Amino acid sequence: MKGIVLAGGKGSRLYPITVSTSKQLLPIYDKPLIYYPLSILLLARIKEILIISTPDDIDQYKKLLKDGSHLGITIEYAVQEKPRGLADAFIIGEKFIGKDNVCLILGDNVFYGQYLSGTLKEAANIQEGALIFGYPVKNPKEFGVVQFDEKYNVISIEEKPEKPKSEYAVPGIYFYDNDVVEIAKNVEPSARGEIEITAINNEYLKRGKLSCLPLGRGMAWIDTGSPEGLLQASNFVSTIQSMQGFYISAIEEIAWRKGFISDNQLYEIGYLLRQTEYGKYLMSLIEDKI
Ligand code: TTP
Repeated sequence: MKGIVLAGGKGSRLYPITVSTSKQLLPIYDKPLIYYPLSILLLARIKEILIISTPDDIDQYKKLLKDGSHLGITIEYAVQEKPRGLADAFIIGEKFIGKDNVCLILGDNVFYGQYLSGTLKEAANIQEGALIFGYPVKNPKEFGVVQFDEKYNVISIEEKPEKPKSEYAVPGIYFYDNDVVEIAKNVEPSARGEIEITAINNEYLKRGKLSCLPLGRGMAWIDTGSPEGLLQASNFVSTIQSMQGFYISAIEEIAWRKGFISDNQLYEIGYLLRQTEYGKYLMSLIEDKI
């Protein structure tokens, strides 16, 4: 299974903040936003990752995350010339995906909660078809809404419906078999001129190959595309980290816990950042072990 983080876009709901910088580089409390979706791919044990961003911003991601070897993974980079829509990820990523299955995660989605690791591992095991998630929300009208039966087969997906058929929104993480590349190439642009992920999901639905895993209320999902979302996510991360002492989405910690890097490698990364609480935390993981 390969992984793609889509980290381009206009970020227009965050203007003027994002006029001259990329949304996914903005801080969520103590780390760049892209750490959060990247951590989700690592939790799913996906080790070959493609980051897609704009021509202006891609070099900043390369500076931040390099080739991934410090995390025991490989990271490649690709440019999206124009924000043509989420489904474009599979066209840009065609060569990278090759013959594999693929997980797409949106660069501005933050997830956290119990059983997340297990749920992701289960999702990453899909052999055929497509898998999306459903997350209960108060205001389903503002989201893509998924309705599913007791066997988790999807019955319908509707974009921002007037009369939602369920309370489950579709968050920005999707697992697909290799057919997604061909499907994406045949998607027609929508009225707003984008090739939509919903069109891909509807094609899988038509083929009877779309299932949906509900995420429980113990899970947090925050779309950080608006100023409120950014602040909510920062407050959430700061609150949990200060109460529990465990960090959310520290990618180096996850790489170490998954066995992608050694004790020494983790300690060295922490040592380079030792002036910060973040660095001290990484070092403490090893010191507490000794
Ligand atoms: P959106 O939040 O739908 O779009 P956006 O980031 O351009 O923001 P706005 O609506 O405020 O203008 O995008 C979801 C994620 O996908 C986000 O991380 C940016 C990314 N994205 C791309 O990389 N390329 C695209 O073509 C689109 C539409 C989004």
